[in-house]
Amino acid sequence: MRSNKASIMVHLDESIGIINPNIYGHFAEHLGRCIYEGIWVGEDSTIPNTNGIRNDVVEALKHIKPPVIRWPGGCFADDYHWEDGIGPRENRPRTVNIHWGQVIDTNAFGTHEFIEFCRMVGAEPYICGNVGSGSPREMRDWVEYCNFPGDSTRARQRADNGHPEPFRVKYWGVGNENWGCGGNFDPEDYAVEYRRFSTFLNNFQDAPVYLIACGPSGNNPDWTHKFFEKLRGRGRIQGFAAHYYCGSAGTSTEYTIEQWYQLIHRSAYMEKLVVQQRAIMDGYDPERRIGLIVDEWGTWHPPAPNMEPRFLWQQNTMRDALVAALSLDIFNRHADKVVMGNIAQTINVLQAMILTEGEKMITTPTYHAYHIYAPHQGGKALRLFMDAEPITFGDDNSMFGLTGSASIKDNKLFLTVVNPHVDQPAEACITLRGGKAASGTANALVNDDIHAYNDFDSPDNVVPVKQNVTASGEEFYHTFPPASVTALSITLS
Ligand code: AHR
Repeated sequence: MRSNKASIMVHLDESIGIINPNIYGHFAEHLGRCIYEGIWVGEDSTIPNTNGIRNDVVEALKHIKPPVIRWPGGCFADDYHWEDGIGPRENRPRTVNIHWGQVIDTNAFGTHEFIEFCRMVGAEPYICGNVGSGSPREMRDWVEYCNFPGDSTRARQRADNGHPEPFRVKYWGVGNENWGCGGNFDPEDYAVEYRRFSTFLNNFQDAPVYLIACGPSGNNPDWTHKFFEKLRGRGRIQGFAAHYYCGSAGTSTEYTIEQWYQLIHRSAYMEKLVVQQRAIMDGYDPERRIGLIVDEWGTWHPPAPNMEPRFLWQQNTMRDALVAALSLDIFNRHADKVVMGNIAQTINVLQAMILTEGEKMITTPTYHAYHIYAPHQGGKALRLFMDAEPITFGDDNSMFGLTGSASIKDNKLFLTVVNPHVDQPAEACITLRGGKAASGTANALVNDDIHAYNDFDSPDNVVPVKQNVTASGEEFYHTFPPASVTALSITLS
């Protein structure tokens, strides 16, 4: 087998910034079988649950340390009225989910259930408010309901519904995709709405809010320029959230080698988005107070056969795992600006961590990428340089190659590497600048078949495998298998 010689230089003394754990965040929308069946089965279900929330899913999610979960949408958010989802379940209205198949939402899963789910898995809740069909009053009341510690009618209502203690929800999105399903606003008009809404979203005692504005579709510079131009320092804003779906090439499970490269290459466009969007933001926010967020991203494959197309269910292969890993590496490399990322979506929808079928549950290759990348959370991102022969493909001779990121925590270097080449391992010489390796371990996601995935008959077809590492001194070698994701953990001397 031909191998590709590569060199990786890690600058242990050059920090980019602390990797915000929220970069490893998730997104759960009332869409298809994400909330209902995926998370919520109800207390009377035969599927083992705690207060209606399925136990197997909670246990699986805890392993990947989800720092934050965004809810209730997505497009759903701008047609969601939070009061429909509180109080005795038998009294909650049956509403129509106009965006996702016009199915009936029983509202059994509302604010209390979402917060309980977050607490069970150890994540911070991130609530996306309704700008499109809602009002500033409705959203300010939601914040008061969740966060006010005193004796207001809203706080009493929360207590009557079982939670006297405030929820202290920090992250609040002011609408979702307001350039599209969230109201079809122009950027200037949305900026006016943003100013108006944010004026009324209060910091209550012990519960300051972190307000997130709707950013562009993909890397649209126009939205960002016009939004910030119109905002011009008025309106409280802590985060600005873009969405980027890299789409598909072929289908979720059927693709040629060319299509494997096409999709992975398209996902790497995230780097350009981050670089260009942060540059525009710097023009309006030179002190870099506002964080860049990508609160929806991932693959979006054509509907799977025999599945309801509006439920966005898709299978998840090694290719998705590489997309996830290289996107996380991009966020890590921009740890000084990117403060949150929320892959779409947690369960049974798009690039999911988990798939369920009634009482059965499996984890996906993307889940395993998140699992082996988790030690980056809270680490100090380090500058690294990679040099490898690029892969050239397609009519336009597109080029890309080995990518990765590095962080350090507690005298341990954590280095993650994606080798997208379908049949060439990368033999890398790893050089540490400013320190020495004492020992190392490695976990890799690797499979002989680039189409490999997990299903209910073969749930462990793609799982991380341990690899030998000979790490000592300032320079050592490691071979990254073809079509793989690797996480190296190096103890420094
Ligand atoms: O994640 C599915 C949908 O994609 C979300 O509801 C919307 O925000 C985006 O267009």
